[in-house]
Amino acid sequence: MKGIILHGGHGTRLRPLTYARPKQLLPIANVPMSQYGLESIKEAGINEIAIIIGGNNSQKVREFYGDGSNFGVKITYIEQDEPRGIAHAIGLCEKFVNNEKFLVFLGDNVILRKLSDYASEFEKSSDSAKILLCEVSNPKQFGIADIFEDGSIKKIMEKPKNPPTNLAVIGIYFLTSEIFEIIKNLEPSWRNELEITDALQVLLETKKRISYNIITKYWKDTGTIEDIIDANKTILNNLQKYCNSKIENKSKITGNVIIEKNVKLNDNVSLNGPVIIGENTKIENSTIGPNVSIGKNSKIKNCSIKNSIIMDNVLIEINEQLENSIIGHNSKITKKTEKTLILCEDSKLEL
Ligand code: G1P
Repeated sequence: MKGIILHGGHGTRLRPLTYARPKQLLPIANVPMSQYGLESIKEAGINEIAIIIGGNNSQKVREFYGDGSNFGVKITYIEQDEPRGIAHAIGLCEKFVNNEKFLVFLGDNVILRKLSDYASEFEKSSDSAKILLCEVSNPKQFGIADIFEDGSIKKIMEKPKNPPTNLAVIGIYFLTSEIFEIIKNLEPSWRNELEITDALQVLLETKKRISYNIITKYWKDTGTIEDIIDANKTILNNLQKYCNSKIENKSKITGNVIIEKNVKLNDNVSLNGPVIIGENTKIENSTIGPNVSIGKNSKIKNCSIKNSIIMDNVLIEINEQLENSIIGHNSKITKKTEKTLILCEDSKLEL
């Protein structure tokens, strides 16, 4: 089986964060989001992966993953000129797939459940596709599956106005090469995209079998800041605590806390897990957590931070509380001594 990670798009709802990097590279518990997808594919026994890139700063994806050898997989990059839909992106992979079965993972989806049993079920079956469904409270925002009483899939539709069920089709699809001919004949949807849900519906209409499993463990399509902060909290909660630094002073450390190498905490620091602190980060006189990731080479002084993601090389020195925040790489937040303010285009600042 082969693997495909979709890593394109402009990430408009996550601006300004996505001006600097593709949204799928935003860190969750100090690891780029799409790396969780790559690890899931690898855990499913797949070593050959195509990453579909396009949109803002897509060279950063190549820089991070390289040829895949650092991650124990072989990576091929395929460029998508415009974000023309999931089915369009999959359609670019026909040669790469070379008639094998394959697993597609949307790089902005985060799950906790492993995929190896689903992958081997699909590998052995004669099904044309396998999809994963998850109950959601906002079904109008997703692809939705309707199910017959006998449990088989009746219909798959994209963002219906009147959803017949609350079973969202999550962004992980097991497919066969049959899908390529269908994609070639698809018409763009109202949002001018080739929809994977439309391609799956054609399979159903031609009496091909699509199996499914319902996921009850965590799944998140990280479209907004709130989604990313939520995914960060969930992943942090599920990590094993460890400490790779010598912490000899009186800092108070409680709960699930991960401390990487060469972290320095002074006597006046409380870490309330779940929290992760990256390499070479220094914290003084601050209360951190719960649900906080701090990247490497950062310095945090005199503040309290909850439910937030602080990336690498950040300086925060304020007598304030930060909550539900995401602070990008190389940012500096210090107390203002003058009344000048310089903001770049499209900024949002609430004081
Ligand atoms: C896409 C798919 C949708 C699916 C969702 C899962 O939606 O079109 O069917 O439910 O991913 O993440 P989009 O994120 O493009 O709105």
